[in-house]
Amino acid sequence: MQIRTFPSRSSLLFMVALLASAPVHLKAQAAPSAQTATDRPWMNPKLPAEQRAEMVLKQMTLDEKLSLLHGNGMPGVPQWSMPLTALANGGAGYVQGVPRLGIPPLIMSDAAYGVRGSGANGRYSTAMPSNLGAASSWDTKSACAYGTVIGQELRAQGFDMTLGGGVDLVRDPRNGRTFEYTGEDPLLAGTMDGAMMRCEQGQHVVGDIKHYVMNDQETGRFFVNAIISKKAMQESDLLAFHIAIDLANPSAVMCAYNRINGAYACQNSYTLHDVLKQQWGFKGFVDSDWGATHSTVASSDAGLDQEQPMADYFGPRLKAAIASGKVPMSAIDDHDRRVLFGEFVSGIVDDPPQKSVVDVQKGFDTAQHVEEESIVLLRNQDNVLPIDPSRVHSIALIGGHADVGMISGGGSAQVDPPGGNAILPPGQGATRWQEHIWFPTSPLKALRAALPQTKITFDPGTDLASAEALAKQSDVAIVFASQWESEGMDLPDLMLPHGQNDLIERVAAANPHTIVVLESGSAVMMPWIDKVDAVVEAWFPGSAGHKALANVLVGKVNPSGKLPITFPKSDDQLPHATIPKPPAMPRGNPLGTPITGPMSYTVHYTEGPEVGYKWFEAQHKEPLFPFGYGLSYTTYKYAGLTVDSASKTARFTVTNTGNRAGTEIAEVYAQLPHGMEESDYKRLVGWKRITLQPGESQTVTVPIDTRTLKTYNTAQTAWDFAPGAYAVYVGGSSASTPLTATLMIH
Ligand code: NOJ
Repeated sequence: MQIRTFPSRSSLLFMVALLASAPVHLKAQAAPSAQTATDRPWMNPKLPAEQRAEMVLKQMTLDEKLSLLHGNGMPGVPQWSMPLTALANGGAGYVQGVPRLGIPPLIMSDAAYGVRGSGANGRYSTAMPSNLGAASSWDTKSACAYGTVIGQELRAQGFDMTLGGGVDLVRDPRNGRTFEYTGEDPLLAGTMDGAMMRCEQGQHVVGDIKHYVMNDQETGRFFVNAIISKKAMQESDLLAFHIAIDLANPSAVMCAYNRINGAYACQNSYTLHDVLKQQWGFKGFVDSDWGATHSTVASSDAGLDQEQPMADYFGPRLKAAIASGKVPMSAIDDHDRRVLFGEFVSGIVDDPPQKSVVDVQKGFDTAQHVEEESIVLLRNQDNVLPIDPSRVHSIALIGGHADVGMISGGGSAQVDPPGGNAILPPGQGATRWQEHIWFPTSPLKALRAALPQTKITFDPGTDLASAEALAKQSDVAIVFASQWESEGMDLPDLMLPHGQNDLIERVAAANPHTIVVLESGSAVMMPWIDKVDAVVEAWFPGSAGHKALANVLVGKVNPSGKLPITFPKSDDQLPHATIPKPPAMPRGNPLGTPITGPMSYTVHYTEGPEVGYKWFEAQHKEPLFPFGYGLSYTTYKYAGLTVDSASKTARFTVTNTGNRAGTEIAEVYAQLPHGMEESDYKRLVGWKRITLQPGESQTVTVPIDTRTLKTYNTAQTAWDFAPGAYAVYVGGSSASTPLTATLMIH
């Protein structure tokens, strides 16, 4: 990596732009100039980030310090327009730098599964599979490749800060942002999100992990008061954040819109000050979600460092609060030290972004690889899959716009498809908020390319009789069904919308070899499950989803993904049968609405730490598909588990008992000693992806991650590790663990 020192050409241009646009601002500060290398010892990349931050801080005027603590508006949202908004590069926000000291501005873009806003900006960016999809690979190398591509594409577009990194636990699968998160288990979610963000920040962009914390539903998201005990929160949602933050060392953490036990997430001294900063020792800065700042003094005291995207509370009001002594200078210095640390530690000071043309092919290849590892085979009766062209001569491809593309997730995560929405005529321009967007990734074309000898005919599925007729005359029918999701709304339930269940039933009745391909953001309920031969979960599959899917359907790739969330049979199996409606909801585009609401709207997370499979197990409920579940075109046998209590490892052998090579995700769970609170379910403590040739066996050793076995002691603000016998389970899903042994903790 080429390291350059400031001022770079782009920062000089930035200074010129700044001088032209805001001369008063700079003149008013009358700051001394610091131009030469010896005047700027903090520009030495060999020094630790903390030391560099401290050195710069000492040089800064009050106005410079304040300028780092707030945004400057958001392009495209008139209510959020400020004099410097245009400098946001068409992204989501902009924070001034301190050019005279070599401190670059923060130029931010949303980038959950790819860089947002390409349409409006006339740029290209790769869509990776949804974050939940990628979590189904349980592969940290894939997660790293995912983050690397996004980091590189951000820089190529001129951004130096990402707003990705969603790790809120999937506590309710109807949460409309489930696709942006990495599942229901703190260890899996935290590890996968942390791996993505570690590698994204590794490309020298300021990394961000969000939405801290308990932002587990979108309904009433600007004001919902999430009620949960500290103990339960520590052992579930906070644990996922902690694991991700530990792994990624992100420069920033974005606090959420919602309230937690009464206090807004961005002025919640328990979650921000006590937990994030004191208990975990987080050294970076906390930025507010867009419009989630509600106060000056209370927020600063609680640990918010930077208001986004405006300066309503951390602009003139913060300055006034300093003047009146309500906010001490030491607090301002702490906020700034954190922002500066984040800039140094991420590498953006030494290696600022340079606009360039992205490596489009690399993006496609990575997106395809991640999707190939992430597709989950949920059902495969009579080995209908993979499709064997020597037996299958005709295929009916039905519904889901499978002739032109595959669907994607909406909201601020939305990546714009090349050529515009594939289901609309070309030239539609930028995507609109909450529009259902299809990428031009045609399964029809990909399957025709993969099966050149097979007759593949498409029917849109809008006329049931026509779909039925085509299904009847084909050897195999493949129905494409989608469940669209977006920020700003929750799913009413987990049923496929728009009559898709009827379509599947009708086709399945007409063709005994019906395969359903799901493009979903979350879990889906399947009243027709016993009537179809196969179900393939492709998630929101990204820029090369069609190729990955075709490779799986024809067996070029043996599926290996495993569910990162439980699929319930019905909504009433969930801890809450419905998501309660708030008394009043802000209307219209949520980005432009006043962000307040009734304090009375509460959600009681009575299930506590029993999120997802833990709830199902503790309640003795049998889901449709359990957490960790996924089939392969081969079969695996588990044997010979031994647990070494001293080294806290599990050792066992997995054999490929089928006739195809494959990769098995072997899962290790453990259960608290009998009689302890919450000992009625097991917890994921580790896993390993094992690639095996037909007949091959491998003995592997998996470390037992004890973070999920400790219990939080609220009175002592400490974690207890109870002595006793912990049952250890090993197998291919949370519901199939043929091996057991004991871990003794003394
Ligand atoms: C609100 C969303 O909740 C957040 O995820 C996003 O980063 C900001 N808007 C900026 O677009």
